Amino acid sequence: MRIGVLTSGGDCPGLNAVIRGAVLKGTRIHNQEFVGIRDGWKGLVEGLTMPLDRHSVRGLGKQGGTVLGTSRTNPFEGPHGGPDNIQATMDRLGLNALIAIGGEGTLAAAKRLTDAGLKIVGVPKTIDNDLDATDYSFGFDTAVEIATEAIDRLRTTGESHRRCMVVEVMGRHVGWIALHAGMAAGAHAILIPEQPQSIDQICAWAKSVGDRGRAPVLVVSEGFTLDTMESAHSEKGLDAFNRPRLGGIADVLAPIIEERTGIESRATVLGHLQRGGVPSAYDRVLATRLGMAAIDSVMKKEWGTMVALRGTDIVNVPFEDALGGLKTVPQERYDEAAILFG
Ligand code: F6P
Repeated sequence: MRIGVLTSGGDCPGLNAVIRGAVLKGTRIHNQEFVGIRDGWKGLVEGLTMPLDRHSVRGLGKQGGTVLGTSRTNPFEGPHGGPDNIQATMDRLGLNALIAIGGEGTLAAAKRLTDAGLKIVGVPKTIDNDLDATDYSFGFDTAVEIATEAIDRLRTTGESHRRCMVVEVMGRHVGWIALHAGMAAGAHAILIPEQPQSIDQICAWAKSVGDRGRAPVLVVSEGFTLDTMESAHSEKGLDAFNRPRLGGIADVLAPIIEERTGIESRATVLGHLQRGGVPSAYDRVLATRLGMAAIDSVMKKEWGTMVALRGTDIVNVPFEDALGGLKTVPQERYDEAAILFG
């Protein structure tokens, strides 16, 4: 078989390790041939490819980003989009199957294409850890490490000036990165989308920290809402899938906290730093295992499914299991973290 591999959606540390895992096992064990599809679905729609042999994945496991490039292109849009055109492009390129590595948007598109008869196996990726049907997604651990180190650093400058540091992390509509990085760094409050809070409560937490002579460190998810807000803060328009681009809530909160508590406050938005650089060892291992499992799924013709982590096992689940709903932070996980707030 000739198997196309693409990475689509936001990049994520560990993508290259998946590619390497699939290609190495696919060539060594299954004797298959691979073709790199460039820039996500865009490459499949426009027929943009690159060589992907055993030699080209050498040393790739520890490299951040994706050597294939990525985009948030919607494969159903444009004159060359849609299942018939994409199948025609795959035929022209001699591709018998496709491994699509991506998040919710990518997997939803892959499901629609598989329903139309295309032969696709998925690999879930997201730093947000918001995909159902997989316990963890690679990239999350690395993002949490980066955010934790940043919060640790912000704490020392905050303490020196007795300032309140408001640190914004990514995560879209779930609070996993904030919860884990906030707990790891000992934040005085963690604000997540699943748990809207009043500004009075946030200021009370900051004030109690200030009153005992400490500098408050508050971690906020980009998707967090105050109980007075109808939707998450967004001022950067929509992405290709018509979803609002989030970010900037820390800049909203910091001046209000300063005004209400009298504690000088600063906002830091970590942004894309959380997606950059080398993957953690955990993410390299998880991504490599998922890549190897994906080529096994292709060999078994398990179209319309994705590989996933259950406990410590790699399993195979239908796309719809991952797309039913977001994996949100459960109440009990927030409650245990909240014991240490203020
Ligand atoms: O889904 C991953 C993610 O990093 C989100 O946490 C964030 O909201 C979004 O992607 C940012 O997207 P972009 O890279 O298009 O700005």
